[in-house]
Formats: sequence, structure tokens, C-alpha cells
Amino acid sequence: MQDSKTQTSAVRFDPSWKQRLAEGQLPAILARNLQHYYGEGDLRKQVLYDNDLEIYPGEIIIMTGPSGSGKTTLLTLIGTLRTVQQGELSVLGTPLHKTTALRALRRSIGFIFQAHNLFDSLTALQNVRMALELAEPNGSHTQHNQRCRAMLEAVGLGHRTGHKPKQLSGGQKQRVAIARGLVHKPRLVLADEPTAALDEQSGRTVVELFKKMAKEEQVTIIIVTHDNRILDVADRIVNLVDGRIRSDVLVQEAAIVSQMLARCPVFRHLTPRSLAEMADHLIAENFESGTRIIREGEAGDKFYLIRQGEVAIRRGPDDKTLANLVEGNFFGEMALITGQPRNASVDALSDTVLYSLSQERFQQAMSQQASFETEIRTSLFDRQ
Ligand SMILES: Nc1ncnc2c1ncn2[C@@H]1O[C@H](COP(=O)(O)OP(=O)(O)O)[C@@H](O)[C@H]1O
Ligand SMILES: [Mg+2]
Repeated sequence: MQDSKTQTSAVRFDPSWKQRLAEGQLPAILARNLQHYYGEGDLRKQVLYDNDLEIYPGEIIIMTGPSGSGKTTLLTLIGTLRTVQQGELSVLGTPLHKTTALRALRRSIGFIFQAHNLFDSLTALQNVRMALELAEPNGSHTQHNQRCRAMLEAVGLGHRTGHKPKQLSGGQKQRVAIARGLVHKPRLVLADEPTAALDEQSGRTVVELFKKMAKEEQVTIIIVTHDNRILDVADRIVNLVDGRIRSDVLVQEAAIVSQMLARCPVFRHLTPRSLAEMADHLIAENFESGTRIIREGEAGDKFYLIRQGEVAIRRGPDDKTLANLVEGNFFGEMALITGQPRNASVDALSDTVLYSLSQERFQQAMSQQASFETEIRTSLFDRQ
């Protein structure tokens, strides 16, 4: 949970967290201090370390990371295909670290894994129908057929329902596997490289289907992928390196913050990459209406960007208001640049969310900017 006491990076700050809290919305996936080991005795090897993760219904997560970093392990733990050994992991409200009753939960999960494991003797339709019959044994045959056909159509295989795997291309087989993973209307979809074998257009079709499910039915979707053609589908990108979540970025928020920073004249010479890095170091801070955020005469230690709310800049013994600042405006840079005390006070006029950058990081950004300018000068000079 985010509050004024916990330190949340700006790119992890979820602007709708208060609404979630008010609605009592629970995460679809909640991992705390999750570890995992393979092997026994001397061969025991840790592959997941101290992982925390909080994913909400309707979010699409893209998980990336080098081969061997633990992505499939994490995905199979979430999918209840492996036992939780250490730490906590709750999936759709079921605490996996405490329970072994998983049958109902498994029915709510759709698996799309790399090895498609289709039955060679069954048609595309029959392969998909088998999954549906397992999940909903009491449904009627006609209804099952209709739903399977519609699902195959949705992945662009309406004209191949009677074909057996041998008569299908690699990409078509993969789409049958996708239809099979989605046909029982899961609330959580776990997909390992679902689009790797697909051409551009089929990949798009699948991604649009994921988007629709997430948006219209609040299905939570985790996609492990290196396919950067589908990065735009992600609400969040989770990067795993050596068994640890190295970054967890809310894509839209990261873009908003970077754009806000780019509009600050003090950072106008920073590259998009440096801005994104800086966004990663901003910390979200909440201030209640009426709080004094900085005080005239004190030493400056932070730069602030207003993410939500409104503040007043005030100066002098009678606190004369000089200006009101709103979302996207910033303050606090003068004291950091000049080394002088704060030349004004700043008060929150409403409940306000600020992103703050420490003096050290601010100076780092400024020096990057200086080296950027030096570089340009040098390159101009070299050209002469
Ligand atoms: N069944 C297994 N037994 C032993 N080691 C395994 C097993 N599965 C994976 N590993 C090891 O665990 C680490 C993480 O693997 P994996 O989760 O498959 O990573 P990724 O999906 O990111 O490539 C790797 O070092 C891999 O060799
Ligand atoms: Mg893998």
C-alpha cells in the first residue's frame, strides 16, 4: 500500500491507489518476500530472491529479463504448478503458502506456455473443447462448441477449426494453444512467450484480445516476453535479473513523469533516457491540505514536481502569496542550484502528491546535463 510513510518510486506510484483502497479492491497477485530453490543438499540453488509483487485485476504485466533469470519459475509458482517454499504468495485471494486446495483456483487460470502440447489426433476445435470440458464439465456440448468456435475466430482461426495440428503452421498451432488457454474465461492469464512464433499481424490480434479481456472483464494478464513489438500492451513492465525484480514500472506513469520533467527548463538538455532514469529516482510524497511543505529560510534538500493537487508559494512575515502552482509545475530548484536557503515557503492548498528528487540526484542530473553540453560543444568543435 502507498501512504506518506512508505517510499514509493514515482514510476511505481499508482495514481488510482486511493480509489482502490476506497473500493476495497484486493490485488489479484500479492507476493511478499518470495524465494525459490531448486535441488537438494549440496546441489540446492536459489533462483528467486526476496521478491515482492502486487498486481491488480485488469492489469497487463509484461515480464522481461535475461534467460535464466527466473521468469518461468515465478510464472509457474503463480500458476500453482510449483509449491511455494518460502515467503508468501496469494493468487486471486488464495494464499498458496497456506493451502493445498487448488482445484477451483486452477480453473480460474489460463495457461499459455511455449510448448503447445496439442493433441495430434484431435482437431483444433477438439483441442480447445477439451480444455473447456475440463474447466466446465457440466456445460452442454452445443454451447461448448459455440464458445470454442468463437474463441478460435477471435484468434483468427475461424477457417481452421477442423484442422489437426499437423495441417497447421507453427503460428497457427500457437494460436490454437492461445484459444485453449482462454476459452474457459479465466480471471488470470499466464503466458510464456505467447507471440514469439507469430507474425506481426497474428501477434497484434492476440494482443488486442488480451487488451479487450483486461479492459472489459478485468482479467489480469502476465506475459513473459522478449517480443518488443508488443511492449505497448503493458500497463506495467517488470524486469527480473538474477532472480530479483530489478524494476517494476507503471508504464503510463513513467511516461507522464518523464514528460513533466522534460517540460522543466532546468532539465531541458537531458536525453529521454536520462529523464527516464531520473523518474526512477523520484519519490512520491503525500501532503494533506494545509501542510507547509518547505519553509522559507531553511536549507534546501529536495527538488519537487507536483503530480496531483495545488500549492501556494508564500514569502515574508505575512506569508504573502506569490503564486499558485498546479500539476506538472515544480519548485525547490533555486536553493539547490544557488546553495542559498529557501527563498519562500510552500503550502499544500489541497491534498497533494509530490515527486521529490534528493539534492544528490538533482546535482547528478545537472552534471549529466553539463557533460551533455560539453559533448555537443566538442562535436561542433570537431566538425570545424
Ligand atoms: N526444474 C529445474 N531444476 C533445476 N533448475 C532449474 C529448473 N528450472 C529452472 N532451473 C534453473 O533456475 C533458473 C531460472 O530458470 P527459469 O525460471 O526457467 O528462468 P527464465 O524463464 O527467466 O529463463 C535457471 O538457472 C535455471 O537453470
Ligand atoms: Mg523461461
